[in-house]
Amino acid sequence: MSPVVRYERRGAVGIVTVDNPPVNALSQAVRQGLIEALGQGLGDDGAQALIVIGAGRTFIAGADIKEFGKPLAAPDLNLVISTIEDAGKPVVAAIHGTALGGGLEVALGCHYRVALGSAQVGLPEVKLGILPGAGGTQRLPRLIGAKAALDMITTGDFVRAPQANALGIIDAVVDGDLLEGALRFAAEVAPRGTAGRRLSERDDKIAGDRGNAALFAEYRAQVKKRARGQVSPLRSIDAVEAAITLPFAEGLARERAIFSELVTSPQARALIHAFFAEREAMSVPDVPGDTPVRAIKSAAVIGAGTMGGGIAMNFGNAGIPVTLVETAADALERGLGIIRGNYAATVAKGRLDQAAMEKRMALIRGTLDIGAIRAADVVVEAVFEEMAIKKEVFAKLDRLAKPGAILATNTSTLDVDAIAAVTARPQDVIGTHFFSPANVMRLLEIVRGEKTGKDVIATTMRLGKTLAKVPVLVGVCDGFVGNRMIFQYSREAEFLLEEGALPAQVDKALQDWGMAMGPFAMSDMAGNDVSWRIRRGQAASRPNDRRYSHIADRLCEQGRFGQKANAGWYRYEKGSRAPLPDPEVEKLVVAESARLGIKRQAIADEEIVKRTIYGLVNEGARILEEGIAQRPGDIDVIYLTGYGFPAWRGGPMFYADTVGLDKVYADVRRFHETQGYFWKPAPLLERLAREGKRFADWKG
Ligand SMILES: NC(=O)c1ccc[n+]([C@@H]2O[C@H](COP(=O)([O-])OP(=O)(O)OC[C@H]3O[C@@H](n4cnc5c(N)ncnc54)[C@H](O)[C@@H]3O)[C@@H](O)[C@H]2O)c1
Repeated sequence: MSPVVRYERRGAVGIVTVDNPPVNALSQAVRQGLIEALGQGLGDDGAQALIVIGAGRTFIAGADIKEFGKPLAAPDLNLVISTIEDAGKPVVAAIHGTALGGGLEVALGCHYRVALGSAQVGLPEVKLGILPGAGGTQRLPRLIGAKAALDMITTGDFVRAPQANALGIIDAVVDGDLLEGALRFAAEVAPRGTAGRRLSERDDKIAGDRGNAALFAEYRAQVKKRARGQVSPLRSIDAVEAAITLPFAEGLARERAIFSELVTSPQARALIHAFFAEREAMSVPDVPGDTPVRAIKSAAVIGAGTMGGGIAMNFGNAGIPVTLVETAADALERGLGIIRGNYAATVAKGRLDQAAMEKRMALIRGTLDIGAIRAADVVVEAVFEEMAIKKEVFAKLDRLAKPGAILATNTSTLDVDAIAAVTARPQDVIGTHFFSPANVMRLLEIVRGEKTGKDVIATTMRLGKTLAKVPVLVGVCDGFVGNRMIFQYSREAEFLLEEGALPAQVDKALQDWGMAMGPFAMSDMAGNDVSWRIRRGQAASRPNDRRYSHIADRLCEQGRFGQKANAGWYRYEKGSRAPLPDPEVEKLVVAESARLGIKRQAIADEEIVKRTIYGLVNEGARILEEGIAQRPGDIDVIYLTGYGFPAWRGGPMFYADTVGLDKVYADVRRFHETQGYFWKPAPLLERLAREGKRFADWKG
């Protein structure tokens, strides 16, 4: 028998245990083992019912990602599932942890499902650009109706056991020991046999959906809006519709055909790339996995402003006590008030209970005494973005913090090495660049200074995970990775205005292309004054270095700082965040073109996309070559998690590879000739294009 699946009997119930750590993924050995163990159970005259259960921390959590992209070795999962479903004895899935993707499909092949209250189920395939390909789109609607099945399959969202029980996915929620509960349940249902329990034979839940054409039309319209540009949610609807309109076997064949089409599609490749890139970002070649990490049991955050408050919440959420240090009582009050308000809003939405909120609030302690950082294992500085103030704060931290404490700065533009240099322990200093709102955004750029210790890097990367962030290691440079690239992108967007476009056109072109938000709406949200202040600070020292459009300066001179001023690149009705095109801005834009002697002309959407997105790519290539980012996938992860880049395009570097670097390079050269020096092709882009290679081929 296969070592990853075993069979045993307790009383009159046979137990099939999948034991393939860490998550009981459905590898070839597990599929084969399941068929063999089931065969044993069915042949065991003493067993009147069977249980399928997972060893360790979870039920079957899905496909084996190691087998992704390879031809699938027999037996395929459909055979495993039909073997279960066709069994002459009732089979009960006993679920703890997660039953995801193929794992849930196995459970749907079983005749009954029981779960611990803490378990979750889901069909997340859509997030990888595919759909459940082992009957999930056919059996789930037959169990819970088309609408509820569509909700799960088109979003990929997980459902917790109590809700799954209410929906009918789970027959019983088990208290206490799962196996004991499942044994009791199996003994109870054994006499009933499998009659009426084979989902492939059921019709009662979908009979009512059959004549309901509006259901699918409405659902398609809704998904087109929600999943802009992404194919797999729409194709999932086709598969679920087949479950309603076709006999089971034909529906299954339809599901298989759509699966085969999706699995080789560019979108699936992009989404699978994104999935792996996020995991790979955690690895740092010169900081091996066994590098010792420092214990982080308490934290301090300096500055209770926009960022400091959100950062403190991250610690509170992770159960790490955190001291929030301010200079003025009113700033501290305000900061703590915003934190409380944020939590209260989450409670109001039903996503957190009051007791959990109070527990988190109790972990966040405000003080005006910087001496309170003495106990902290990590201190995150989030004071004003001014070098003199940062240096003053770090000199204090150096005096006060305990030996071995990690001293982190949340600076977005300043030199981490210069900050480290005011301390006697530069090896303990690192950048933790959170994104706004810091309690929501998943991206965390971790900035490695020249002298940052390897154990400090390892500890901070791990801390990022503990705080539920996606940590990506970057090097010191102006803007690090994300903002350094976005600068090129936004600058081009503004040049496009001078040449003939308007903010709404540029934003729409990029949104239609897949960006969560256009550059002007984004700038209004972040505050136009932020970059205006930086530009004014730098104009004196680098007069010629940063050619940029001056329209943004004109906006800021009029106080059009963005959403917070109800006016920016757009106008905003009081209390609304919906950007409305503003004739005043159009006047300003047209006047700037006239002042520069530029004859305004129509610009095609495709050109808008190339001018902005290739700006990201060209700068990304420089960043790679300078070693500021470790690998192209890291840049992609930064854009996917921090900048609303469409996941189904895989990130800017992956996208450039799919276009072909020769084509991207040709356009960048054209822009260099027509737009100016800042479009000089990055040497790495030029070299890879000439050699017919991709960023993915580049090994640093
Ligand atoms: N706002 C963003 O979108 C964003 C994003 C990423 C990074 N950052 C960076 O985060 C840092 C903080 O930015 P912010 O937007 O939260 O600023 P903010 O102005 O909202 O908050 C700064 C806070 O620090 C306090 N402070 C100033 N000096 C202090 C001192 N010596 N000790 C204790 N508290 C002090 C101020 O009273 C203020 O409450 C900056 O370095 C900024 O560049 C900001």
